[in-house]
Amino acid sequence: MQAIILGSAAGGGVPQWNCRCPVCSLAWAGDPRVQPRTQSSLAVSADGQTWLLVNASPDIRQQIAATPALHPQSGLRHSPIGAVLLTNGDVDHLAGLLTLRESQAFDLFGTNEILAAIAENRVFDVMNSAFVTRREVRLETVFEPVPGLKATLFPVPGKAALWLEGAAPVIGLAGESTVGVLLEAGGRRIAYVPGCARVSEELRQRVQGIDALLFDGTVLEDDDLIRAGVGTKTGWRMGHVPMNGPDGSIASFSDVTVGERVFVHINNTNPVLVEGSAERRGVEEAGWTVAYDGFIIHFVPQAAAVAATTD
Ligand code: MLT
Ligand code: MN
Ligand code: ZN
Repeated sequence: MQAIILGSAAGGGVPQWNCRCPVCSLAWAGDPRVQPRTQSSLAVSADGQTWLLVNASPDIRQQIAATPALHPQSGLRHSPIGAVLLTNGDVDHLAGLLTLRESQAFDLFGTNEILAAIAENRVFDVMNSAFVTRREVRLETVFEPVPGLKATLFPVPGKAALWLEGAAPVIGLAGESTVGVLLEAGGRRIAYVPGCARVSEELRQRVQGIDALLFDGTVLEDDDLIRAGVGTKTGWRMGHVPMNGPDGSIASFSDVTVGERVFVHINNTNPVLVEGSAERRGVEEAGWTVAYDGFIIHFVPQAAAVAATTD
């Protein structure tokens, strides 16, 4: 299995177009401590030929350009992207579909709820139905989005996408609106969970023993946006569990065995984006990697992994 993080930032990217928060200000100034990042997306392949995109970010054109494996390879029209899978209906996860509109065949996978949101928006009909097949997947059901890659969607505590929120959105329920995906090929297993409001016991058990956990790194503390002075919403209100704190992701997964722990979907207000900061050191000392664009998941050779567990 090959897995490349195409975009490691949350909605808005780094820097965000209209933001002068401390992190974005460093990025605008070209400070080398803050690497610019595009919005949340992962590319995965079992054979290195046909790729699954997990989420289609508004930055997809730039992400494809930056990733030679995703360039057209042969003939007049071609794309190695065989399928796109959506983990929720956030704008940062589906606006890129509008870029994939030039009569190119691929499969679009998602839950009933996420595909319904797309079906209700006629602008997505620019994905020509003669070429793009929308495939509803049930939770907890193994499917093969691209050759040799097995995928399973599982519910995680979340909330409806921001643009679909009602007056009083329910937060923290696990259903079809926010899912994680377990991807398996060649004896490797990774889980991609870019949005998650709370780490449940069920989630902890599900990721036990996998090769890599790519997890929601939107906020460091629940009140990041308030501290940065850019908003009033907590992480919980946005459906994102913080990294820190007794119920944060670092503590919650600390006794779970995972090959590699990687934060993805990192919001531009998150101080861990500043290399050399105390906040960055804190998460790294806890065994987590802060993803960057183009980050390749390096699987520990299986022989070495076996030796390590039998020592
Ligand atoms: C989120 O992850 O909370 C959403 O991407 C927010 C948004 O749509 O701007
Ligand atoms: Mn998002
Ligand atoms: Zn910012």
